[in-house]
Amino acid sequence: MQQALAAIKKHFPWAISLLLLAPCTTQAQSPLSPQDTALLAGNCVTCHGPGGRPPVGTGSSIPALRDQSSTTLLERMQAFKAGRVAGATVMPLLMQGYDAAQMQALAQWFAQPPGGRP
Ligand code: HEC
Repeated sequence: MQQALAAIKKHFPWAISLLLLAPCTTQAQSPLSPQDTALLAGNCVTCHGPGGRPPVGTGSSIPALRDQSSTTLLERMQAFKAGRVAGATVMPLLMQGYDAAQMQALAQWFAQPPGGRP
């Protein structure tokens, strides 16, 4: 490894900066795949209903996620995570487990559920 690194340094001095950059770029938040987002969204529909809409007539006290813009959903999630929603019950705790990219993906998912609007 040492020798290889020395050889790289000698012949490709610019390559070292790429090596140094590599760990940073892999840590950057990449957009989630639709498959990953679907798995995450599965956690939400147990409470928020299939597709983010509680079944009609259940009188559910859990708000529907459907029919809200992704911006609104994202803002709500960020507010929960930051503890800025007075009277909230489960969401502040739950949102601790989601990073910015995941919240963004979920907001878009519930604003625009795959399969269109029934
Ligand atoms: C255990 C049940 C439960 C689960 C699981 C759950 N939620 Fe919630 N959600 C609630 C409740 C209850 C509220 C009302 C605020 C509160 O009491 O925390 C809420 C509120 C919200 C709101 C605000 C909606 C509005 O109109 O004010 C958003 C956005 C939201 N949840 C997104 C999500 C997402 C995304 C997930 C999946 C990662 C999720 N929730 C999972 C119960 C749940």
